[in-house]
Amino acid sequence: MKHWRWATGLALAATLFSGRAPATTTTSKDVTSTAIQEENVKCINCHLKENNALVQQWKNSPHAAAQDGQIGCFNCHAAEPDDPLGYTHEGAFIKTVQSPRDCAFCHEEEAKQMESSHHATAGLIMASLDNVLGEVVCSMDSGADAASGCWQCHGSVVRVLTDGSGKALLNENQAVMFDPATYPNSGIGRVNPDGTLGSCNACHGKHSFLSSRARQPENCGKCHLGPDHPQLESYRESKHGIAYYSSVRERGMNGMNILKSGKWVLGKDYYTAPTCATCHMGSTLKADGSVTANTHNVGDRISWNLREPVSRKLNRVTFAGGDQVDMPGDNPPMVGMERRYEKYVLAGDKWEKREVTGEVTEVKTWEMRREEMQIVCKQCHGVQVVGNFYKQFDELVVTYNEKFAKPARKLFDLARSEGLVEDPLFDSKLGWAWWELWHHEGRTARVGASKMAPDYTHWHGLYEVAENFYHEFLPELRRLAAAKGKQAVFDEAIAKVLTAPEHQWFKDSGR
Ligand code: HEC
Ligand code: HEC
Ligand code: HEC
Ligand code: HEC
Ligand code: HEC
Ligand code: HEC
Ligand code: HEC
Ligand code: HEC
Repeated sequence: MKHWRWATGLALAATLFSGRAPATTTTSKDVTSTAIQEENVKCINCHLKENNALVQQWKNSPHAAAQDGQIGCFNCHAAEPDDPLGYTHEGAFIKTVQSPRDCAFCHEEEAKQMESSHHATAGLIMASLDNVLGEVVCSMDSGADAASGCWQCHGSVVRVLTDGSGKALLNENQAVMFDPATYPNSGIGRVNPDGTLGSCNACHGKHSFLSSRARQPENCGKCHLGPDHPQLESYRESKHGIAYYSSVRERGMNGMNILKSGKWVLGKDYYTAPTCATCHMGSTLKADGSVTANTHNVGDRISWNLREPVSRKLNRVTFAGGDQVDMPGDNPPMVGMERRYEKYVLAGDKWEKREVTGEVTEVKTWEMRREEMQIVCKQCHGVQVVGNFYKQFDELVVTYNEKFAKPARKLFDLARSEGLVEDPLFDSKLGWAWWELWHHEGRTARVGASKMAPDYTHWHGLYEVAENFYHEFLPELRRLAAAKGKQAVFDEAIAKVLTAPEHQWFKDSGR
């Protein structure tokens, strides 16, 4: 939070979102304007009757308590005169839906950091074509599973309902109507009608907008849980979760001080345990007495991609023009080089991945990202615990990759090229088994290790990977090969995998 007067806001919005310059007539961000404050009083007085509790949430929020004048209803909900989402409501021109652009007028840094993160782009996957599971396998025509499932975490493409001529339809209160399949939605990478990506109230629930809620593990746990990404469960099982849940999670240095407003610095405001936000986003006191900046880019401190079929280490490469891409491997490109990379572009009303070429302007290697995380660890631990933890964790990821994921992927690719299975993946038992091997059990093992959670690493993790690999995937592969008369090809391919020393215990007797 810096300067939130409208003049700053406009300059900032123009640089942040070069696509569409804001109209210069807006003064709603000028919280010192008496006209705006009078408008706010009108909203509040009537909404105290309509939605009393909503207004109280706001009344007890940092926005109502802001020192240079309250940030009231109209400061956020005012629409610019040309805004297609705007409608006249009790004499004021307002809009309902808010995007990061609206918050960015006053919170530039946070919006910029979030904009370049994987959180912001999480909705593009859902808007793209490779979305068979949610829209087809688990849904009827209405796509109900995608709307109430996938999109609630990843973000929907919010659509306005229009008449034949493209004009927004209004409801009985004269408010712009949204397609109920796409709104309400607070998915992390929501694709907003103004073209921006992301939703700030995914973590800062309306209308209290508190940091204190955002930094509690349950907040991240709306999305980061379940068999395909059990971060919350793993955290609960870890020594860190134990220290957190057994502490006094309230105000005061003796507890977590988690309800504090404003800055929350590890080593200054609390010391008991780290939460998700501590490790991935938070500020830390350093040895020289300075404080590290917090970040709204949750990828800043991670070095592995633990969610893809075979994990790779990630370097973040920035291109001229500002695109940021994770490029895997130990030899990232250097500044000044030209490189091809993929980015999402809007083609019609679908987002598609396209290959483009750009000049590298900055490289953050996986080692640098890891070092940023270790600054946090070192507040509470000695270097040996931290260094050795990373050795244990790396070894687990490498074991999953080399022993199971790479061989299974190779065999599955062969099954595909030999015509044993066809797309979509979910049409065959073999495809389903491979999918669960990496997407469920394999991720659980890797996530468990990253969170120091032994049960998720082993019993829900590698144990189930092994069961799947030896007793589901391989037998099904043999069955399909026999059914298609391709036994010889697959006997040889499987034998080659099983001669590796780590598989020799398995006699594959067919019992
Ligand atoms: C005279 C009463 C009154 C005043 C003044 C008023 N509202 Fe409302 N507002 C309502 C009613 C009634 C509704 C519809 C009932 C509901 O959605 O709960 C509504 C609905 C809304 C909605 C939701 C619309 C939707 O998409 O469904 C928003 C946002 C809103 N008001 C904001 C404001 C703001 C901002 C102001 C001040 C500029 C304001 N209201 C002033 C009565 C009022
Ligand atoms: C800090 C900005 C901010 C302020 C201040 C603010 N709102 Fe909102 N409001 C939001 C956001 C964000 C949403 C969620 C919209 C979305 O999903 O994009 C919202 C949604 C709403 C809705 C629909 C929400 C629902 O759950 O049905 C109403 C009604 C509303 N606001 C009224 C008000 C009123 C009345 C006030 C003043 C007491 C107010 N707002 C103050 C940001 C704000
Ligand atoms: C409970 C919330 C939730 C639901 C429901 C959900 N996801 Fe996800 N999804 C996530 C999270 C969290 C991640 C990141 C996991 C990680 O990094 O460990 C993710 C990751 C992904 C990825 C990988 C993205 C990448 O960058 O590699 C894809 C693709 C994906 N989800 C698609 C879907 C589809 C399709 C559906 C519905 C069939 C769905 N998700 C349902 C929360 C969810
Ligand atoms: C993934 C969850 C998440 C999302 C999404 C998110 N925030 Fe935050 N935000 C947090 C956490 C956690 C904190 C507390 C950080 C701390 O205490 O150091 C925070 C703190 C803040 C603060 C207090 C000042 C600061 O930086 O510490 C502001 C302002 C803020 N967020 C604005 C935003 C805006 C604007 C957006 C949307 C562009 C947004 N946030 C999206 C989690 C989130
Ligand atoms: C007109 C300016 C303005 C707008 C618009 C605005 N905020 Fe704020 N916000 C503030 C001010 C002022 C504070 C108090 C900061 C302080 O005391 O340093 C604040 C504080 C916050 C905090 C920190 C709360 C805490 O617990 O410390 C969060 C989170 C936040 N805003 C989120 C949002 C989100 C999300 C939006 C968009 C929906 C938004 N704000 C829109 C001005 C604004
Ligand atoms: C003690 C610090 C710590 C805490 C607490 C913590 N994490 Fe992590 N997290 C890590 C480390 C370390 C990694 C692996 C980093 C790497 O790849 O180098 C990681 C990785 C991740 C990833 C990356 C997965 C992928 O697909 O690559 C996600 C998502 C994540 N954590 C979410 C969470 C959530 C949600 C919570 C809280 C429920 C949480 N973390 C709590 C340290 C922590
Ligand atoms: C509303 C759902 C949602 C919430 C809440 C949420 N996330 Fe995420 N998160 C996702 C999804 C979806 C992805 C995967 C995005 C992708 O790769 O496309 C993700 C990815 C991540 C990653 C991997 C980033 C990278 O660069 O690879 C980390 C780390 C992470 N989240 C941490 C957090 C933390 C910490 C919190 C809480 C402060 C949090 N998330 C809250 C949905 C959410
Ligand atoms: C706010 C302080 C804090 C931070 C930050 C923190 N930890 Fe911890 N860590 C603890 C506490 C408390 C325990 C539990 C100690 C106990 O029960 O003996 C713990 C336990 C552990 C353990 C288990 C050790 C054992 O003997 O079983 C490992 C490994 C660990 N932390 C690694 C890390 C890593 C790696 C990071 C950074 C990614 C990190 N920690 C960040 C406080 C922290």
